[in-house]
Amino acid sequence: MKKNIEKIITKDGSIGLYNKDLDEVYHSREGAITEAYEKFIAPCLILNKKPLKILDICYGIGYNTKCAIENFNTIEVIDCIEIDAELAKKSFQFDYKSSKKINKIIEKNLIKSDLINFYFDDVRKVIKKLNTKYDIIFHDGFAPHKQSELWSEDLISEIIKKLDKNGIYCTYNHSKPVLNALFKTDIKIGKTIKDKRTIGTNASFNPNLIQNPLNNFELGMLNTKSAITYKDKNLNLTHESIVDFRNFEIKNSTLETLSHYLKKN
Ligand SMILES: C[S@@+](CC[C@H](N)C(=O)[O-])C[C@H]1O[C@@H](n2cnc3c(N)ncnc32)[C@H](O)[C@@H]1O
Repeated sequence: MKKNIEKIITKDGSIGLYNKDLDEVYHSREGAITEAYEKFIAPCLILNKKPLKILDICYGIGYNTKCAIENFNTIEVIDCIEIDAELAKKSFQFDYKSSKKINKIIEKNLIKSDLINFYFDDVRKVIKKLNTKYDIIFHDGFAPHKQSELWSEDLISEIIKKLDKNGIYCTYNHSKPVLNALFKTDIKIGKTIKDKRTIGTNASFNPNLIQNPLNNFELGMLNTKSAITYKDKNLNLTHESIVDFRNFEIKNSTLETLSHYLKKN
């Protein structure tokens, strides 16, 4: 393990990781495997009746992929994108509910792919090269205040172009700039909810496939300053320049502030 990455035990007993340089966790402290199931698998179970093509963006140590293998009956292919090849190549060493079977599949596919294809590069370089329409897309980057380049409207637009019209996109992220970036693609957006609390976002072009669609009040928030998106037109800017430009846009925007919108409604 690299020096800047530490292991933590999460509340469901599964191992999570913490990145000291970014001061950012890879997995929820509430439970790494629980998070994979609740935020990424559960919203897609409705599709579990046909062979699935899955795209796992920001594979990390692969909990979302492992959880998909455990829960979906027929998977045709899983394409995984991860910039940290060294970390991903160790992913089969992280216990998954004591199931040796799933880690064996990962290990085998890291050597020779028959189910999982690994792309060890920046998602911004890989995304346009993929020519599959996916039934399921997981998007699990670090938070936008640490890595805004993973959440720009330009990247999200490219990601959503890869989603089948009856496919489902899932992320833990439900921040306004990300919801707004999704909104601009014309996809229907839903909230992933646990115990009456929003824990993520699910989205599909087919409105019958989403859970807890955003209501008009929530959609209205996307027309406020706080929902101004991150921009990265050529998919090559640094986090700092993306954030600087967004701050500039917020400062010069004539849109209503979120607090004004909330007071008014
Ligand atoms: C929140 S963690 C993902 C956790 C992962 N889904 C798992 O189950 O272990 C974010 C991951 O995004 C990766 N990442 C960061 N920048 C990236 C980029 N530009 N392209 C692809 N992956 C990136 C990080 O190396 C890290 O593994």
